[in-house]
Amino acid sequence: MANSKAVTRGKFITVEGQDGAGKSTNIAVIAELLNTRNIDFRQSREPGGTPFGETIRELILNSDDDAFGDKAELLLMFAARAQHIAAVIEPALASGQWVLCDRFTDASYAYQGGGRGVNMQDIFDLEQTVQGELRPDLTILLDLPIALGESRAGARSKADRFEQQQLDFKQRVRDAYLDIARRQPQRVKVVDASASFNGVEQAISKIMQEFLEAQAANPPSAE
Ligand code: TYD
Repeated sequence: MANSKAVTRGKFITVEGQDGAGKSTNIAVIAELLNTRNIDFRQSREPGGTPFGETIRELILNSDDDAFGDKAELLLMFAARAQHIAAVIEPALASGQWVLCDRFTDASYAYQGGGRGVNMQDIFDLEQTVQGELRPDLTILLDLPIALGESRAGARSKADRFEQQQLDFKQRVRDAYLDIARRQPQRVKVVDASASFNGVEQAISKIMQEFLEAQAANPPSAE
């Protein structure tokens, strides 16, 4: 046996939700909770997270809706993701760092699958190819009625490629997210993001506490 010290793999937490659900504010709440527990983590986002990924993000979000097709959009998301996993997520987790990511593959199921109508099986196949075994350990889904998300997002600056979509697109995104949560209740925790800021913060704190307690009760065997 090599005498290198065994490292416990980090945990992978993602935050999802439709535009205007309050992701940024609530990611800051989660980051603060992790800091309070002295958990070393890396914060990132998708699409993006690497120089290559951020270039793709610019391309996707600032292109006109008809600049490229739905499959091209899906492949761009996964190209950015492949690099993000290889350069950031996997090395961090392997070194014992946790990763807190603003969106991940559930967004591809919700936006490209639900919103655009891309075949879910195609997304599933890409997920296998690009991610192998990698899946988030915990996903917090911020959910709220479309109209409320609209009025919140509307208060911000210029709408991007997805924010410009019609209400029926946004409803399909929301429905696809909720469908994932129904199918994977162990991993995906739904938070009612229409509640007051304090109410949402409390709900997130409770989920995080339960997750951290579960980790403490079942420490993974060190590799
Ligand atoms: P978002 O995360 O909402 O950033 P900001 O808070 O700065 O607006 O923007 C990213 C957009 O990309 C969002 O509308 C969802 C979309 N998206 C997809 O369509 N598919 C994906 O796989 C990912 C990761 C994001």
